Amino acid sequence: MSWKSHPQAPAADTEVCSLDSVPDGGCIEVGFGVDAQALRLIVLRSGGEAWAYVNLCPHFSLPLNSRPGEFLVTEDRHLMCAYHCALFRFHDGLCVDGPAKDRSLEAVPVTVVDGVVRIGVAG
Ligand code: FES
Repeated sequence: MSWKSHPQAPAADTEVCSLDSVPDGGCIEVGFGVDAQALRLIVLRSGGEAWAYVNLCPHFSLPLNSRPGEFLVTEDRHLMCAYHCALFRFHDGLCVDGPAKDRSLEAVPVTVVDGVVRIGVAG
């Protein structure tokens, strides 16, 4: 199911978070909706750029974090799944190593305007 089909999918231009709320070289999780029904996004940042992905690993469809709000990131801008260590690039969500190699996180388009990360328009 595409993120756009999720009942809580945010509309284009919806504010996701402030850029400053995301550590440079790190990420945060942002939820739309409540509890188990929420659409949970990982927002990653490098400098003035940000990317968002659905928080589901393509390996076993598990969240990439095993503890709330705790994600594993590397200095060279990769996000590591907490379960079996698949490594995903920040900028396109592609898995470059591990059991999900050559598969990608599901991208949610975002833009950064005036320090605010917003849902973009899918290309
Ligand atoms: S569930 Fe993410 S690598 Fe296995």
